[in-house]
Amino acid sequence: VENIQIGLLGLGTVGRGVYRIITGNAENIKRKVGVGLEIKKIMVRDTSRQRGIEIDPGKLTNKVEDILNDPEIKIVVEVMGGIEPTLDYVSRALENGKSVVTANKDMIAVYGKQLFAMAEANNADLLFEASVAGGIPIIRPLKQCLSANRITQIIGIINGTTNYMLTKMTEEGSDFADVLREAQAKGYAEADPTSDIEGYDAARKLAILASIAFNSRIVLDDVYVEGITKITAEDIAYAGELNYIVKLLGIAKETGDGVEVRVHPTLIPRDHPLASVNDVYNAIFVTGDAVGDTMFYGRGAGEMPTASAVVADVMDAARDLLRNVPGLISCTCYEEKPVKDMGS
Ligand code: NDP
Ligand code: HSE
Repeated sequence: VENIQIGLLGLGTVGRGVYRIITGNAENIKRKVGVGLEIKKIMVRDTSRQRGIEIDPGKLTNKVEDILNDPEIKIVVEVMGGIEPTLDYVSRALENGKSVVTANKDMIAVYGKQLFAMAEANNADLLFEASVAGGIPIIRPLKQCLSANRITQIIGIINGTTNYMLTKMTEEGSDFADVLREAQAKGYAEADPTSDIEGYDAARKLAILASIAFNSRIVLDDVYVEGITKITAEDIAYAGELNYIVKLLGIAKETGDGVEVRVHPTLIPRDHPLASVNDVYNAIFVTGDAVGDTMFYGRGAGEMPTASAVVADVMDAARDLLRNVPGLISCTCYEEKPVKDMGS
């Protein structure tokens, strides 16, 4: 069997990592999948920009048709971000029968339902492990390993940028604007970091997790959101004097009268396991009726951790293509459940 050809939409922080892993770990990936993976085309805005990575310039394009209309390309990896024009590109890729791997929580949190339906109708995979908590395995564990449980709650630190910022403000008393700039320079922040610091990035991730965990349909608008913009180094110091740490938490619970979903800064006791989750690390507690408490921990943002999750999805999509049974993992059947109004 010949190599499976891939089209990459985006070559920024995550795209570079995907390129590095697929080319650098090629032999290892081939042994595990049974066939090689090859990046045929990469779409960027500016094909002449220096990117700090050696790439055959013939692979770069700024025309999405070079990927969407190429019948040899079987898997499209979307690491551009945003909704426009990304949603259109991903929809067209699925309609053309290509499997799609994405890290885009903005798109999945709002348009996931229609995209999953499109993937199913076209016998394609739509995989999105990297969209929540970077390199931490959490989507697949919820969909598969924990699927026998009734999940009762999820509590997590699910934004790397704000956790990095709060850690620096706690440990070094750093200034908000300075640490935001550092998080951007490290490639943790979104293109528009407002969504990190205002809590919307965490809210999108929580909507995705809650939808899967509660077999429901939770969208961004359902989530009560409060970010960290009003938190100062002084607030953190006062909390510290009382033996508390400030963390931005995402909390989702299934209660008797509906699903509760909220993101807000929270004071947690210094000896709580989440208090020691620092820097760009994320952690997610998931409680199931059979398994009890579980905790998932690792780097929640950044080039290589995020690319680790993206490439694993690409490998699964490739395996599905080889077995000729795409859609096995991406299929999601939601029930509609009431969501509690948490106010604003
Ligand atoms: P970057 O901004 O670093 O990269 C975006 C890439 O997409 C760039 O190469 C850019 O081209 C290209 N691009 C953007 N818009 C267009 C367009 N309209 N046409 C053509 N090319 C376009 O983003 P990241 O790599 O940080 O993030 C990508 C996705 O991954 C986002 O959805 C993000 O939320 C998600 N994600 C990011 C994580 C991280 O740690 N950074 C972690 C988990 C998920 P050019 O280079 O020419 O400007
Ligand atoms: N901006 C996001 C974060 C990237 O800081 O967590 C990972 O999704």
